[in-house]
Amino acid sequence: MEGKSLIGKTALVTGAAKRIGRAIALELAAQGANIAAHYRHSAGEAEELRREIESYQVNCWLVQADFAVRTEYESLVDAALDKAGALDILVNSASIFPPSTVHDCTWEDMSASMQINAWAPFYISRSFARKAGRGAIINLLDARIAGLDANHVAYLLSKQALESFTRLMALEFSPGVRVNGVAPGIILPPPATDDRSIKQMIPAVPLKRQGDVREIADAVLFLIKNEYITGQVVYVDGGGHLAGAKEHAHG
Ligand SMILES: NC(=O)c1ccc[n+]([C@@H]2O[C@H](COP(=O)([O-])OP(=O)(O)OC[C@H]3O[C@@H](n4cnc5c(N)ncnc54)[C@H](OP(=O)(O)O)[C@@H]3O)[C@@H](O)[C@H]2O)c1
Repeated sequence: MEGKSLIGKTALVTGAAKRIGRAIALELAAQGANIAAHYRHSAGEAEELRREIESYQVNCWLVQADFAVRTEYESLVDAALDKAGALDILVNSASIFPPSTVHDCTWEDMSASMQINAWAPFYISRSFARKAGRGAIINLLDARIAGLDANHVAYLLSKQALESFTRLMALEFSPGVRVNGVAPGIILPPPATDDRSIKQMIPAVPLKRQGDVREIADAVLFLIKNEYITGQVVYVDGGGHLAGAKEHAHG
């Protein structure tokens, strides 16, 4: 997108040290936003990100939290505000992607995915809305929510819960805070796996290719900038949700 549209704004981006979260943080910084970059374990990558963001002549603060620990996600917005002073944008990208099936899914699987992928972003969004009072929230969902994925049952349900939270919060937090979702399709394979699984899935994608992290960051930026959109989910998946989201895997 043209011009630096976010000068003077500050964005909290969760899961910002690597992959999609990193691309989003860099895009927002390139648009002039200061970044409060959340990470869990990737301290080295977060430090590299901070240096890269500062090369855009904006501020970057690092905030560490493990969303498996209640007190850590509950205090994240305050920790970011202590460092940054104010927040205008929240991007919830941190997530886990564990396998689980209808046959083997346990309550521990379900509660971990629900806590990290749905409850923590909801809680963080609610804190942001209460403290900032205005601004924009973007939740990273998954194109799978349009269908079923029998190999990632707990994950699927957690992302469907976050989609419902997105719409509920859009209504409750308006007119001050807008809440939207971005649902990626096939973008990056899970960490420590190769591209083979992705290549097998491309034929089922109407646009016949994998997506790029920059295309996700573009959609996030669009939803931040357009101030007459709330409660929407934008699928950035090459049309995959039309062809049957159960074929997808990031995966
Ligand atoms: N990759 C894809 O193709 C794809 C497809 C569909 C949807 N998505 C969604 O897009 C978003 C970004 O995807 P991604 O592939 O870039 O994600 P990812 O690499 O799987 O995870 C992003 C970050 O989440 C953080 N995280 C994991 N567990 C955490 C915990 N307990 N507490 C706090 N942070 C935690 C990790 O931070 P540390 O490294 O610092 O520990 C990790 O770097 C996710 O919401 C994902 O579900 C991605």
